Amino acid sequence: MQGSSGDLKRMGRDLAVAADALRDADTVRIVTHIDADGISAGAIADMTLERMGKSHTIGFEKKITDDVVASINSSEEDVVWVCDLGSGYLSEFDRSGLIITDHHVPDPRRRGSQTVLDGFGTVHHINPHCYGIDGSYEVCGAGMTYLLSKEVDPSNVDLAYLAVIGAVGDFQDSNHQRLVGLNRTILGDAVTNGDVIVEEDLRYFGRDTRPINQYLQYSSEPSIPGVSDNPKGCMEFLDILGILMKDGGRWRVWTGLTQEERERAIDRISELLGPELSERAFGEMYRVTRYESGTGLGDSKEFATVLNSCGRYDDAETGLRVCRGDIAALKVAEENRAEHRKHISSALSYIRENHLLRERRFIQWFDAGSGVRETVVGIVAGMLLSSDDCRRNIPIIAFADSDDGVKVSARANRDLVDRGLDLSSVMKTAAEIVGGFGGGHTVAAGATIPPDRKDEFLDIVEDLVSSQIE
Ligand code: C5P
Ligand code: C5P
Ligand code: ZN
Repeated sequence: MQGSSGDLKRMGRDLAVAADALRDADTVRIVTHIDADGISAGAIADMTLERMGKSHTIGFEKKITDDVVASINSSEEDVVWVCDLGSGYLSEFDRSGLIITDHHVPDPRRRGSQTVLDGFGTVHHINPHCYGIDGSYEVCGAGMTYLLSKEVDPSNVDLAYLAVIGAVGDFQDSNHQRLVGLNRTILGDAVTNGDVIVEEDLRYFGRDTRPINQYLQYSSEPSIPGVSDNPKGCMEFLDILGILMKDGGRWRVWTGLTQEERERAIDRISELLGPELSERAFGEMYRVTRYESGTGLGDSKEFATVLNSCGRYDDAETGLRVCRGDIAALKVAEENRAEHRKHISSALSYIRENHLLRERRFIQWFDAGSGVRETVVGIVAGMLLSSDDCRRNIPIIAFADSDDGVKVSARANRDLVDRGLDLSSVMKTAAEIVGGFGGGHTVAAGATIPPDRKDEFLDIVEDLVSSQIE
């Protein structure tokens, strides 16, 4: 079954009550996450409140810390609307007038929705896990935020495409090669409104903007034998099929090939992959109709990367402006994307050249120190996990220095989750034992821990992982 229906009726009732709370508020503060999903969620909340004529502010956070909790608890606004964050730390909030539209695994100390705080007020906690819906692939933070936006006013359906970008940005389309569950309903809204076109295609990253040889070279998960990670192999592949890499002086891109050229390439790639891997390489891709392909915003995966290039480098505001359709922000976003590309590529080389990747029995790990930004180390870990450098059948744990200790990012393949792995609980439990904090999703999670406890932390993580998947 592709996604469960969960308790949608109860969620609908909770959304209606939360929408009333927004209507009753004069002032609202939005707090959202810095990644693609968080920025999309923030943009949806921002435009929803603007359309309601509400006085509001928006701020971006890397994570929920004690300071963020304190600031939310003491905010003077009538309502604080927390998007794509907050569920993991629910028991720490003590204010009334709190709306959370998130999809992270909720705080086990308080898993409910619409919790009444000791006769003090109501927390509107709208999280898929409260309704039997999986938050790691059925709906994202932007999706939950969109559902509330649509509850406030059905004409907000023109914001659905932003929730599609959030879902793709969180890799929610990766295990079925398409969006499923509530994401599929939201995708339906975006398609009906004319904002998204569903296309069957190869699902590798960069189909609109990566030069064709690089598009093939960086293909992964699944890798194409003789082509992925093999620049010479890519050139030969194109040469044999009679596909020119350049058109005049300009590099050609995957979606810029003729229909016939693409078909020839697809036939050959399918042959090289074999039937089983081909299943994973092809699937749905989502085109954002309002942008030309050359902008890097025409493909939803590339759009999400543009947002990550902003938010993960302290410039979430530019991402927000892009989501709001501010054309002037595109140039800055383009510069951010070039920087992001450089940082990722140097981070991967740094880890490879210094042989930082270490293997244990149940996990593999690397410590990037100050060589990789803490906000990007999770992306790098995910890329390594899907490359030939790594063992795919065990999780990867990554460390990077951060201002308040060591940032940890953990990623695993879904097969392990199917066998019982839950990285969210692993990160939360192990971090708390060593005096830190963490959480996230079953397949992707993170933590912050004290710098001198890394070895101990790894021992605990390994014990927890082995006990979960045995
Ligand atoms: O905080 P949030 O839920 O938005 O972030 C989820 C993170 O996990 C995203 O950065 C996403 O890219 C990452 N992820 C991943 N691999 C998956 C699922 C999610 O790297 N299979
Ligand atoms: O930072 P990274 O991309 O590795 O985060 C993976 C997931 O773990 C995200 O959903 C993030 O919100 C979550 N996380 C968390 N608590 C932390 C660090 C990360 O819930 N301390
Ligand atoms: Zn998210």
